[in-house]
Amino acid sequence: MIGIDIIEIDRIKKLVEKNDRFLNKVFTENEIKYFSEKGYKAQTIAGNFCAKEAISKAFGTGIRNFSFKDIEILRDELGKPVVNTYNNLKKICIDYNVLEINVSISHSRDYAVANAFIKKV
Ligand SMILES: CC(C)(COP(=O)(O)OP(=O)(O)OC[C@H]1O[C@@H](n2cnc3c(N)ncnc32)[C@H](O)[C@@H]1OP(=O)(O)O)[C@@H](O)C(=O)NCCC(=O)NCCS
Repeated sequence: MIGIDIIEIDRIKKLVEKNDRFLNKVFTENEIKYFSEKGYKAQTIAGNFCAKEAISKAFGTGIRNFSFKDIEILRDELGKPVVNTYNNLKKICIDYNVLEINVSISHSRDYAVANAFIKKV
């Protein structure tokens, strides 16, 4: 199962600059810690947001029956995105025999994009 998403980085930048609501609603504590280590770069936050929407499309549901914070996108020691699932989404992964979720993120000056691939048993 595959999914894709694209977003204007400036849209995310404005949401982040407004107040903490967007960050706290969409991202886990670990993700916010990672953003803070990266100086809250809008392109990085936008990339994580796209990755979550891409995953939701790969499931074929959008963000439904689980929340944005049930998906966590971190990075390994080489910078590759790593996906963790929690709560309802973790249960859905067990029910659907999901083995692994992979994402790939990219950004240019104006846009961030992400692909998601859900590997099943
Ligand atoms: C499914 C979802 C991720 C689509 O994202 P979007 O930004 O509205 O729309 P995009 O332009 O990225 O994508 C639209 C395309 O997604 C695809 N799509 C729509 N529903 C889909 C689904 N259930 N599964 C997979 N793909 C879907 C379609 O191809 C659609 O294009 P089309 O209408 O021309 O066929 C979105 O509906 C969703 O669940 N978003 C989260 C909602 C939310 O809470 N937002 C608040 C942000 S704080």
